[in-house]
Amino acid sequence: MNPANKAVVNSDTARVKADHAKYLFPCAPPLYGEPLVLVEGHGTTAVDSEGREYLDFFSGILTTSIGHCHPEVVERVREQVGTLGHTSTLYLTENQTRVARRLSEIAPGRLSQSFFTNSGTEAVETAVMLACMYTGRSEVIALRRAYSGRSVLATNLTAQAPWRPLGSSLPGIKHAMSPYRYRFPIEGVDDEAFVDYLARDLEETIHTVTDGKPAAFFAETVQGAAGYIVPPPGYFQRMVEIIHDCGGLFICDEVQAGFGRTGGKWFGIEHWDVEPDIMVMAKGIANGFPVGATITRPEIAEVWTAKTISTYGGNPVCMAAGDATLEVMARENTPDRSRDRGSQLRRGLEELMGAHEWIGEVRGMGLMQALELVEDRAGKEPNPEVTKALLEATREEGLLVGVGGLDGNVIRMGPSMLVSEAEVDDALDRLRRACRRVDSASWSG
Ligand SMILES: Cc1ncc(COP(=O)(O)O)c(C=O)c1O
Repeated sequence: MNPANKAVVNSDTARVKADHAKYLFPCAPPLYGEPLVLVEGHGTTAVDSEGREYLDFFSGILTTSIGHCHPEVVERVREQVGTLGHTSTLYLTENQTRVARRLSEIAPGRLSQSFFTNSGTEAVETAVMLACMYTGRSEVIALRRAYSGRSVLATNLTAQAPWRPLGSSLPGIKHAMSPYRYRFPIEGVDDEAFVDYLARDLEETIHTVTDGKPAAFFAETVQGAAGYIVPPPGYFQRMVEIIHDCGGLFICDEVQAGFGRTGGKWFGIEHWDVEPDIMVMAKGIANGFPVGATITRPEIAEVWTAKTISTYGGNPVCMAAGDATLEVMARENTPDRSRDRGSQLRRGLEELMGAHEWIGEVRGMGLMQALELVEDRAGKEPNPEVTKALLEATREEGLLVGVGGLDGNVIRMGPSMLVSEAEVDDALDRLRRACRRVDSASWSG
């Protein structure tokens, strides 16, 4: 623990909890029965207000991509905030052009021009508006089980009932089937047949519930909040062919899957060898500083001729964080690290599945790994109760993980991509102990 910060440890935990309940909207509930008050973080360690340390395997929802308070990010931010803290999009800054150049160097194919905002939600909004302007169309096909953010448009794109407070309040958004294999009703279907099925569903969606001329097909490469649903090989090639054949664009959401997280590639979509027309990024891009980015080809970017600004978009402090984060990621090779540490984590999770009948599936890519929890493996009935019990048990063991899935029955992991081999082993040990705690408690009644 950093001794300089000792004063904040043992701050009035009860007061923070009471004030949170009193002064903040209740719509964004914290994890755990008793919320956790965090006061400090370094690398893969987070420290709570009682001075207890945790191994952080969720990274503030896959966002502290190179670990809490990475010294190079801290240094660049400190320097920038004391030099020039704000400009707006009315002025140029070197930090912003450096980040845009770095993105164009690692983004797939011809994606080379970026627009910066403050969140994934805004990056999604920018992408959808741009696709509508480019095509002169207004309908969008998204995927069921998607999560796309919290604005009116993004909650309409989102397709998990608990995250859709306004329901289908915007016209023109239709949802095709999620590439979610685990609960696909037909048994024994191979990848090719599954992709055929999904392709026919997309075609039928376009030809039945749109005017046949959608502006875009919008998809996460790995459906994150849904519990790390990984589409089968060949999936995006087919979907993109279909949307291009009817004159629409492919918008790829890399908010969770980007920057090496899926292992071996900078962006998840590269595993399918497909070039998106527009791609959105956020979360891990600036190691926790609020940055959203939408990247596209110049001929698409140039159709946005209406005036627009973003007061904070491309803010010099956030861009300093982004520039430092991307530099560290390139030097440390986060794609290869995620591949190696991800396969270590995956092996451990698969072993764990062998020991617990209520782990229905292990899935994910790279350092994006999840456990779908069920009543029993044969029936596959979602088990949110055991998920809650495991979440609390991991906390007891000093391990932070996340929850996802439409039924709240998926445990999600996404540690810093600089996590060490020893830390992955440590996390697996803690998880094993947590699973044993769950088994010995009477969660099943
Ligand atoms: C895939 C995806 N897209 C978009 C968003 C929205 O990002 P933000 O919360 O930064 O607005 C999220 C957030 O979790 C996400 O997971």
